[in-house]
Amino acid sequence: MEFSFNGLFKNLKSLVNAKRSFLGVDIGSSTVKIVQIRKEEERAILETYGEIALGPYGNMKIGQSVKLPVDTMAQVIKDVMKEANAKANAARVSIPLKSSFVKMINLPINQEKNIADIVTLEARRHIPVPISEVTLDWWVLPTPEKEDKKKQEKASVEVLLVAIHNDVIAEYKNIMATAGLSASGFEIETFSLIRSGIGRGSQTIAILDIGATTSKMIIVDFGVLKSSILISKGSQDLTMALSQSLGVDFSKAEEVKREIGLSDLPEHQEISSVIEPVLDYIFHEAAIFLRDFQNKYGRTAGKLIISGGGSLLNGLSAYAVKKLTIEVERSDPFSKTEHPAFLSGVLKGVGTNFSVATGLALGEM
Ligand SMILES: Nc1ncnc2c1ncn2[C@@H]1O[C@H](COP(=O)(O)OP(=O)(O)OP(=O)(O)O)[C@@H](O)[C@H]1O
Ligand SMILES: [Mg+2]
Repeated sequence: MEFSFNGLFKNLKSLVNAKRSFLGVDIGSSTVKIVQIRKEEERAILETYGEIALGPYGNMKIGQSVKLPVDTMAQVIKDVMKEANAKANAARVSIPLKSSFVKMINLPINQEKNIADIVTLEARRHIPVPISEVTLDWWVLPTPEKEDKKKQEKASVEVLLVAIHNDVIAEYKNIMATAGLSASGFEIETFSLIRSGIGRGSQTIAILDIGATTSKMIIVDFGVLKSSILISKGSQDLTMALSQSLGVDFSKAEEVKREIGLSDLPEHQEISSVIEPVLDYIFHEAAIFLRDFQNKYGRTAGKLIISGGGSLLNGLSAYAVKKLTIEVERSDPFSKTEHPAFLSGVLKGVGTNFSVATGLALGEM
């Protein structure tokens, strides 16, 4: 089970026009996920996708996080492309939220004229490292109509400030170049989640991505990111807790997690009692985040979309509903792409894990 990829599209090889095919590459802490999409006028056609575990490349187990050197990471990307028969030569790549700085700031201005100067100046106060060491980006957020009056009185605008350390970008560029790919863009993973997870005009929606080492949560208002947090626990913490309390090695614990997960059966009581406290940490942070948003904006997220490998845990949706009293839906990024109708069922099941990679590829359109 070292590779989990899907070869269903292999026979469509002849149809692939590498020039118009784009790759989304999501380099996670425990897996690399790729999605290749072909652009045909305004249509996004899903060509192939694949996933590969990083553990075995660094003497670790499947499901374990590992930091690999540039050369090895480039080899991983080549391997997963080969397995998935992905031929695109241009790729967009995700930058982990943990290597980025994302903050919403309020600026006391209502004219966009000299906003660039003001933002750069303000950024120095908000970003914990020297500005010369980061690549800075920012967006003035649209003010919803009902807030207009209040905002004008305060004469302030909301600005989303984003910074990525230059060393991080340099490392990712290096990985892509070594893998023989041209990197046409980099994007913080949470922005990719929005593109693949949310329809235009959707009101207030929360997305929770449960990865191996961290969980990422964002709240999006009318398609625009309003707030994000990084939660320092992920699905690997469930495996480690199981390994410790059941006295089994990591691989066995990983198997128990994936096969049993959260179960109501009396014979699985012990497993649930180990898993639940770790999940409760994540959901506690999530609940505080939702509450803070409501206090600040007076609106509540109407729905929570869950994504990432950790969201595949049996019983997770129901548990999230119970803990957060919110409607929960699994992300279905492939629904934003065209594919043969008979594959819809299969793709809905596996898509969740490709939310970031799909969002990246769609961003090239
Ligand atoms: N069926 C499953 N049930 C439960 N957990 C699963 C299942 N499949 C995968 N996982 C877990 O999902 C995690 C990997 O998810 P994902 O690929 O989203 O993480 P990542 O992107 O590598 O990590 P991060 O986002 O923290 O950098 C692993 O901890 C793995 O054990
Ligand atoms: Mg991830």
